[in-house]
Amino acid sequence: MKTIIEPFKIKMVEPIKLTTPEHRDAILRRSHFNLFQVPAEEVIIDLLTDSGTSAMSSEQWAGMLRGDESYAGARSWYHFEGVLRELTGMPHILPTHQGRASERILFELVGGPGKVIPSNNHFDTTRANIEHSGARAVDLVIAEGAQPRSRHPFKGNIDVARLEALIADVGPDRIPLCMATVTNNSGGGQPVSLANLRAVREACRRHGIPLFLDACRFAENAYLIKRREPGQHDRSVRAIARELFDLADGATISAKKDGLVNIGGVLLMRDPALARRADDLLILTEGFVTYGGLAGRDLEAMARGFVEVLDEDYLHYRLRSVEYLGEHLLAAGIPIVEPPGGHAIYIDAAAFCPHIPPEQFPGQALVCALYRHAGIRAVEIGSVMFGRVDPDTGESARPPMELVRLAIPRRVYTQSHIDYTVEAAIEVFERREQIRGLRMIDAPPALRHFTAKFVEV
Ligand code: F0G
Repeated sequence: MKTIIEPFKIKMVEPIKLTTPEHRDAILRRSHFNLFQVPAEEVIIDLLTDSGTSAMSSEQWAGMLRGDESYAGARSWYHFEGVLRELTGMPHILPTHQGRASERILFELVGGPGKVIPSNNHFDTTRANIEHSGARAVDLVIAEGAQPRSRHPFKGNIDVARLEALIADVGPDRIPLCMATVTNNSGGGQPVSLANLRAVREACRRHGIPLFLDACRFAENAYLIKRREPGQHDRSVRAIARELFDLADGATISAKKDGLVNIGGVLLMRDPALARRADDLLILTEGFVTYGGLAGRDLEAMARGFVEVLDEDYLHYRLRSVEYLGEHLLAAGIPIVEPPGGHAIYIDAAAFCPHIPPEQFPGQALVCALYRHAGIRAVEIGSVMFGRVDPDTGESARPPMELVRLAIPRRVYTQSHIDYTVEAAIEVFERREQIRGLRMIDAPPALRHFTAKFVEV
């Protein structure tokens, strides 16, 4: 059979409120053209994020009821720890309430003024936590990673020559660790190859620099390795995922992505001295080391989610449905980051709206147009999210791409929801000259995309 079906059936449904463009226009104005300020009830298809928005399975819900809520050494903790140990091989496993809690602990321990932390592309919370510690976050993705039309199969790869140059420039002592974000969310959900990770590992090893993964979407990255990397086709996704972790000295994970849960995170480490200090910080701000700010039932749901996500029928359907969305947009002439990545399709908003200059935020303008037209909520990943004043030069820095992300929640929407999204994007594209640019009238200094206010130009 050619048709790839959702490999699950639906047992519980959540109604969607259908609204009119006029109603949504009023909502948009009330929300100052910022979709983070729009109530979720007013959204028809919510593609704001794939984070924490997964539908849990009947096994996970059953696990919630079996959660052990003991303060120390709960049965659910041992279940969670066993699953994570088998999956990653890491000796030190800390649960946290979400990814950025792991990042906050890690960078409070290894960051600080004068330190430099390279990655392919740091995600916004990772960058913010690094900078909050006083350290500098440096993006070293390969050149193809910033070229929307390049069909390089691993556009999340780190440029090893630039990494070597950075190490030579600042000195290994100032680089407490190197990160690799798998898949590379800020760069278009693009995967990192095993070959690249091995080369990065080797460069780091020569200088005594630990390598950490930001492994939020490790299963999607491992599946794309299986599909795209020579020699990997016959291996199981589980074996590939394990090799990713074997190459690393630690990892931060937001379980709200490939953990298939609504809340939860993990911090993994090999170094016992670092792990000891992380335990102390975790206890100070999150909770005891066997629950890390979560309920026992959340640990139980994570333990099951991290197993289910490696089901290759699930991954096949998951990656194919994202690819299907991308192919249909491309066929209609809509510029996207190619090839389609793991969890989302990224529309090239600069090419979609060439009449809107970057200082009028073409990505945010397109996000507003999609909402007004069809009630679809997407997110801008461009000058609103990453535009900032460079700490070294004092100049306004802009990201290399102006993107709009259509992130697909896991196991939530069916093919007809995807078809509706395709139709909406095509209709907006056909009348794209009518989209108006925006002016930012209010914004906080950090993570400004959540609360910035805009007016139409
Ligand atoms: N790292 C990456 C690569 C992420 O995509 C995210 C979250 C985090 C870290 C932080 O995890 O939200 O659990 O604290 N990404 C979400 C998104 C918010 O929409 O892409 P968190």
